[in-house]
Amino acid sequence: MEKCVLITGGTKGIGKAVALCLGNLGYHLILTYASDTEAAVLFCCELRNSGITVDIVQADVSKNESIDLISQFLSNAGIHLDVLIFNAGLTCRKSFEEQTFEEWNRVFYANVHFPVFLLQRIVSQINEGGCIVFTGSLMGIEPHSVSLAYGVTKSAVHALVKNLVKFLSPYHIRVNGVAPGFVDTEWQKAKPVEIRHNIENKLSLGRFCEPQEIAQVYKMLIENSYFNGDIIVVDGGYSYK
Ligand SMILES: NC(=O)c1ccc[n+]([C@@H]2O[C@H](COP(=O)([O-])OP(=O)(O)OC[C@H]3O[C@@H](n4cnc5c(N)ncnc54)[C@H](OP(=O)(O)O)[C@@H]3O)[C@@H](O)[C@H]2O)c1
Repeated sequence: MEKCVLITGGTKGIGKAVALCLGNLGYHLILTYASDTEAAVLFCCELRNSGITVDIVQADVSKNESIDLISQFLSNAGIHLDVLIFNAGLTCRKSFEEQTFEEWNRVFYANVHFPVFLLQRIVSQINEGGCIVFTGSLMGIEPHSVSLAYGVTKSAVHALVKNLVKFLSPYHIRVNGVAPGFVDTEWQKAKPVEIRHNIENKLSLGRFCEPQEIAQVYKMLIENSYFNGDIIVVDGGYSYK
């Protein structure tokens, strides 16, 4: 029977690369996105033209109602998941002095609260032997001067992965995380050229990670059934230069 994967933020960047990788392995894809329907539909057509089966669901992870939306979608379609990838994440680049409680809360809701309460709702719709992969970040390990909320929430994501292991073991579900350094997605491409050069200079490999390279790490965590509670850091040698 066809395996199913749900990827939040699966229509661009890291999520898109993971979707392509798993789609080519024969997975049925359920991809969520926030607002860019045009890009989502285009990607969906590309996938279908290559014989990959896919559903797209518009579900903003900063909104409570998206939990109902996703859970209802799975129930109505009678879908049980084999893999769940919590990938969509938010940041807020306002200065420490200017950040409001609401902005701080939005980042926490999207990066931490949303996955916890979506998982609580749909855990019974994940098959035994299934697995979950969270997208963390190197910024959850290294102190981060750009967004306090982002760094703190990504640390929480890493802690969540480790803490969830025992809660998910009765369901026979594994849970792991990937902590990417700098992956060349729209998120990074939007940065000014001089900032991008500064980043490249800090990396031993001297370049950003390609989304396809990071997708291979998700594949490994899904396929190797001995990974559980692990965070794989993929930073191109950031820590060693
Ligand atoms: N790129 C990096 O260097 C890097 C490094 C470390 C960690 N990460 C993490 O990797 C994850 C993906 O980042 P990326 O670089 O691949 O981003 P990206 O290229 O900007 O792709 C973002 C994807 O997530 C969706 N998305 C954005 N905001 C959302 C929301 N509020 N609700 C639901 N979906 C939303 C987008 O949908 P729309 O197109 O509709 O907006 C799109 O499908 C994030 O958790 C990020 O923190 C990235």
